[in-house]
Amino acid sequence: MGCQMNVYDSEQMERLLAPIGYWPCSNPDDADLILVNTCSIREKPEHKVYSYLGRLARAKQKRPNLIIGVGGCVAQQEGERLIKRAPHVDIVFGPFAIVRLPDLIRQAVEDKRKIVDVEAAGAVEPLEIKPAGFQQGRATAFVTIMRGCDNFCTYCVVPYLRGREASRKPESIVEEIEHLIAAGVREVTLLGQNVNSYGMKNGHDCNFAQLLESVNDIEGLRRVRFTTSHPKDLSLELIGAFSRLEKLAPHIHLPVQCGSNRILKRMNRGYTRDFYLAKIEGLRNGWPDIAITSDIIVGFPGESALDFKETLDLVKRVEFDNLYSFKYSDRPGVPASRFSKKVEEIEKSERLARLQEDQLAITLKKHQSLVGTSQKVLVEGLSKKSNNQATGHTPCNKTVNFSDGTAEVGHVVPVKIIKAFAHSLLGESQRCYGSLIDKKGGMLHAA
Ligand code: SAH
Ligand code: SF4
Ligand code: F3S
Repeated sequence: MGCQMNVYDSEQMERLLAPIGYWPCSNPDDADLILVNTCSIREKPEHKVYSYLGRLARAKQKRPNLIIGVGGCVAQQEGERLIKRAPHVDIVFGPFAIVRLPDLIRQAVEDKRKIVDVEAAGAVEPLEIKPAGFQQGRATAFVTIMRGCDNFCTYCVVPYLRGREASRKPESIVEEIEHLIAAGVREVTLLGQNVNSYGMKNGHDCNFAQLLESVNDIEGLRRVRFTTSHPKDLSLELIGAFSRLEKLAPHIHLPVQCGSNRILKRMNRGYTRDFYLAKIEGLRNGWPDIAITSDIIVGFPGESALDFKETLDLVKRVEFDNLYSFKYSDRPGVPASRFSKKVEEIEKSERLARLQEDQLAITLKKHQSLVGTSQKVLVEGLSKKSNNQATGHTPCNKTVNFSDGTAEVGHVVPVKIIKAFAHSLLGESQRCYGSLIDKKGGMLHAA
């Protein structure tokens, strides 16, 4: 559950557990060990954790030897309380404890006792940078380049649960990507809560734009992306990187959160609406077709109808390619949870619906403008809808499903866009490489 960092962390767990004999299986009913990697960013994902754990209680009753571990941000937040609420859980481990997971599992199995490790200490480097054998054969991967966050936006739990910002060494990141390429990966997304401040706190003598340059030079890599960028730290050097580095995909996720200066200040975002708009202009001056996506919170405490109108106005002006929008949700211990003038739930829902309606029209318009164009699609696998369709992304990160299956995973294929939908594009392959499907009905993978 949760963000891409949790996806990376879950893969890290797989890498660490393979040597002690735990391999992934597709059905939880077959598992000896179930690890739930959780998210606490809003109330809803936290509820999801408890309802999933409720279902696991029955599995544990039937199979008492099953070990259940809960990791991630809810684990870090709740610690022992989680076992009180869900007594069938054996291990509670926070994000810092992932490196200790093999030991924690051993203790739970051998000593048959409950284990809680939410100590906020541990190295920033992952223990294992080589993908496990079963992680071969995919075209894209996430690589966490830094952990924690020092920004303390007033609504956000991340700085409390993931600790202070710390960056990995550039050499270690490059080495990990080289291993991923050897395993078939062709595109990496570099992850951090604010990648723009990469290296600043650790004195690595390498800032984020410089790290991108090193990654751009890695042989065999076709595309590099990154997320998330904090607008306040978006440098001219990084903006320039989009035209300088040929592998850097022309897409930036630049969360604005709100269009009103008053609310931005209450959120402690560290920029104004005009500052944000100037960054957008700078990005588009350098690369007119760059895709820009964003996050917005509606109904932050004190957000008036006028403040919300300013958000709608900003969205109209910028015309984001896509928007992830959320209703403000009180989180335990964060300053905004104590702010006055909370917005009614019904009002929040109405604002969210209005914002999403406006954005949908913009997204559709942008998608429709691509019909008839040729796009370079990095093939990632078969589409969810049909086994005769391949799926992948354009450099601007649009999902394209295309028929006729003439490509291999990890190859970049020219695709003519023939139809636009709200969340994806439909296309036709313009080149023939042979069959996408091998004789046994599986996907072919790039060597
Ligand atoms: N580091 C990233 C955000 C990570 S959290 C950044 O600063 O942009 C992902 C998104 O969740 C945030 O951008 C925000 O829009 C949303 N979010 C975080 N806390 C929230 C809360 N308490 N209520 C509603 N949405 C929240
Ligand atoms: Fe949360 Fe703000 Fe840090 Fe993003 S930058 S993780 S929103 S505190
Ligand atoms: Fe969620 Fe933690 Fe990521 S709260 S969004 S899993 S950093």
